[in-house]
Amino acid sequence: MNIASPLRDEAAVGYARGSIVVAEQTKPANSVVGLGYVGAVSMACLSHLGFRMVGVDVNMEKVRSIREGRSPIVEDRLGDLLADGVRDGRIDATQNLIAAVLDTDVTFLSVGTPTSKDGGCDFTFVRQASRAIGQALAMKDTYHVVVLRCSVPPGTTLDVVVPEIAQASGKKLGQDFGVCFNPEFLREGVAVSDFFEPPKTVVGASDDRAERTVSAIYSAIDKKVIFTSIEAAEMVKYVDNVWHATKVAFGNEVGRMCKKLGIDSHDVMNIFVRDLKLNLSPYYLKPGFAFGGSCLPKEVRAVGHIAREIGVCVPLFDSLLATNQVHIAEAVKLLEPFAGQRIGFLGVTFKPGTDDMRESPTLDVMAAMLARGQAITAYDPNLDFGPLLQGQIDYVRHAVPRQAELMDKLETLCVANAETLVDGSDIVVVSHATEEFRAAVKCRRPGVHVLDLARLFKELPQDPTYQGIAW
Ligand SMILES: NC(=O)c1ccc[n+]([C@@H]2O[C@H](COP(=O)([O-])OP(=O)(O)OC[C@H]3O[C@@H](n4cnc5c(N)ncnc54)[C@H](O)[C@@H]3O)[C@@H](O)[C@H]2O)c1
Repeated sequence: MNIASPLRDEAAVGYARGSIVVAEQTKPANSVVGLGYVGAVSMACLSHLGFRMVGVDVNMEKVRSIREGRSPIVEDRLGDLLADGVRDGRIDATQNLIAAVLDTDVTFLSVGTPTSKDGGCDFTFVRQASRAIGQALAMKDTYHVVVLRCSVPPGTTLDVVVPEIAQASGKKLGQDFGVCFNPEFLREGVAVSDFFEPPKTVVGASDDRAERTVSAIYSAIDKKVIFTSIEAAEMVKYVDNVWHATKVAFGNEVGRMCKKLGIDSHDVMNIFVRDLKLNLSPYYLKPGFAFGGSCLPKEVRAVGHIAREIGVCVPLFDSLLATNQVHIAEAVKLLEPFAGQRIGFLGVTFKPGTDDMRESPTLDVMAAMLARGQAITAYDPNLDFGPLLQGQIDYVRHAVPRQAELMDKLETLCVANAETLVDGSDIVVVSHATEEFRAAVKCRRPGVHVLDLARLFKELPQDPTYQGIAW
């Protein structure tokens, strides 16, 4: 990295040092470290919003291109915005990171985070740039905000960026400088319009001042900034992209199967995406317990079978039952420390509001506990042990031999109500998020543990006897 070259002569680029005053509101001056796809777009778009921007890159070609108001990448509208910014004296670029940081109030960090040799994230550029930012802050006596925009594993901002800055600067987080993680959701090709109409703006901040500074910068384009923890903001970015990749892979597996079956995949998926109630919605996306019931496992198996018959490889579809089993096994594992204790199950059917026990994942956990010789009880308000339920019990006994013993004993294991179950248990396993179960869990006597498979509470209880499966 070259930090020796001086910041370009200000007279030549025509911007005034210090923050720009627009419409009686002081706008912070911003530096952007890393002028690639993310950095160049941020430079151009924030300049368009009236911010003075100083771009930094180790690559002299990129610096020269930005200085001359030319886009360093192919991206719609980017060249025009950069040219406007340079012409109006709001955009400059340099290789001198320290000078750029000293000259600005906020530094956006958007250097590359390539895949490391072990498949993880290579922090080399993030570390180098953070250290240089720290060296600049050592010379600065005003508060500065560093905003990480790179896609990084959760924990990177606080465990990599902050220590590098703090060590190089001798300054204190929250007092001398603040950090934010502000993931970038732009799509290349439409990055400029995505910037001005973002799908969402997410900020995780180290302190109120940093949070206020960054939300003020985005106020012109998004009045509903989502504030969260730094780690959640980092995770959101990865989760978004894994989800997009999942959707693409999913659609393509549908497409390969449809082609072999002589069905127009676009006809199928055009109908699929019209369902905003179940298909494209939060409904099935909140972590909880494993899927089950009479449809999902059966139909996943059926689709896998069709794919094999027509010779189409569908590794995503084929992985679904395996990942579901991993989730069930995790519940069983979480119960290991309770060997010899009484386990009560609140909820037996595959979901609340039904008496359908077919392929209920809870039955798998109960059967595993019985097989271990553990004392178990259960309560489910929808189980009425009459002739109709007997049909289901016979079906499960026949279809799932490992649950046969459980089916034989189920009626005798079930107690009359939730209170009785909780009173007679050392640990309660809850698989339905209902008011009845929530109340029973809240009223449990001290010392009774809870394994929550359904996320009973929005705010997680800070209680050592409570644990969840995916939160
Ligand atoms: N490209 C996208 O659409 C996109 C979208 C969202 C998030 N991201 C993330 O944003 C980050 C940047 O992505 P990108 O595609 O813009 O990367 P990029 O490789 O196009 O640009 C990174 C730039 O950083 C420069 N750089 C490296 N070290 C430097 C240093 N020490 N000082 C100054 N400049 C330095 C490089 O020369 C390069 O120009 C990555 O973490 C990426 O995962 C990218």
